[in-house]
Amino acid sequence: MNSIELDISNTIPLISPEERLALDDRVKYIHSAMEMRKGVGADFLGWADLPSQTSADYLAEVDAVAKTIRNSCEVLIHLGIGGSYLGARAGISFLGVDGSTKNIPEIHFAGCNISSDYYAELFSVIENKDCCLFLVSKSGATLEFGIGFRLLRQWMEKKYGVKEAARRIFVATDPKEGVLRQLANEKGYFSFDIPSDIGGRYSVLTPVGLIPMAVSGADITALMSGARDMESLLRQNASSENNPAYLYAVNKHLLKTKGKNIEIIAGFHPCLREFLEWQKQLAGESEGKDGKGIFPASVEYPADLHSLGQWVQEGERSLFETFLVIEKSSHEIKIPEFPGDEDGLNFLAGKTLDFVNEMAYKGTAQAHLEGQVPNMTLRVKDRSSYSLGQLFYFFQRAVAMTSYLDKVNPFDQPGVELYKNNMYSLLNKPGY
Ligand code: PA5
Repeated sequence: MNSIELDISNTIPLISPEERLALDDRVKYIHSAMEMRKGVGADFLGWADLPSQTSADYLAEVDAVAKTIRNSCEVLIHLGIGGSYLGARAGISFLGVDGSTKNIPEIHFAGCNISSDYYAELFSVIENKDCCLFLVSKSGATLEFGIGFRLLRQWMEKKYGVKEAARRIFVATDPKEGVLRQLANEKGYFSFDIPSDIGGRYSVLTPVGLIPMAVSGADITALMSGARDMESLLRQNASSENNPAYLYAVNKHLLKTKGKNIEIIAGFHPCLREFLEWQKQLAGESEGKDGKGIFPASVEYPADLHSLGQWVQEGERSLFETFLVIEKSSHEIKIPEFPGDEDGLNFLAGKTLDFVNEMAYKGTAQAHLEGQVPNMTLRVKDRSSYSLGQLFYFFQRAVAMTSYLDKVNPFDQPGVELYKNNMYSLLNKPGY
């Protein structure tokens, strides 16, 4: 089953089928290198067959831990930064909270900022509430994460005592290496392994993303089944003709060669806001290196049509757009009829919001194309866990392909080190 469709018709004025075809041998070569786990970054391709390698028993174990967390707290604080939290947050807001699941704790994200006010507000929110922590750091050494954990560990140990606090702390980290692995072993925190061959931004389908999503009531079996079906579709088809993720990647690559070096991904639902933050990190850290890459941006329409929309329509012509459209909302709401029609909106009476949203998307795609912003559309069927699994896997595969087409390693992030070194040196960290 496929929940995702890609429409590239609004790139036709700029990209010919021949240009795509000319890249196909390279696409096939990259595909087979990924399949054989060869070449640059091959040690970090664990995500590529993760859905098909994840057993039902493993998912049941994750679900059981999630249930324990749900039953032990009113608030779950997820600590992590970058790939260690963006996927979890994306999934939770894409799916919304499932009303049929009882005892869903509030979920907060910490360890991704160094703001006193953020923590002060968090402590005041959790003051009289039962809490659990989910600590996520592959390296265990990330400063923003480490500071967050110090603050919350002190709070937890004061509230519960060291032993009970330890029972309320759950961890996902490297199987062997790092301070967090050591601490989890020493203190007896329940811990999951983040496989060594999966980097942060490709880890959403490991416990890094699965635990918080399951706590919030997501059906992680359906999520993984969506990812598995997408994996199977994309791994079976080496040519961009039959592989929508590669088609999207090839089009991105070709648009870049024509001076379109900013991609704006536009969602038409607030539930996509955090998903697009995840996607931006995935694309940005994977593609943007060696003086190359497409700058990933995101907008939320129609809200941003009344702010950045002006720029998109008439600013510098360096943009292309990818619309992410959800075909069917989880709820149907119709616009009411008013007998007097004082506001003149009776022409919409009886129409669903989904219908009007679809027209907003179509009108925007056409207007932006006329304004020389070529665009693609990814249609996702609904907001189910299954469709979300498909989306996660689709973007991982597509971003890996775009990076390889640009001859960069999709799985490292050497550029992140410089700020860290400067910050450590300014903070007088020993050795810096
Ligand atoms: O995608 C990545 O690898 C990064 O964004 C990391 O997830 C981020 O830097 C956090 O690293 P860690 O999980 O080691 O704390």
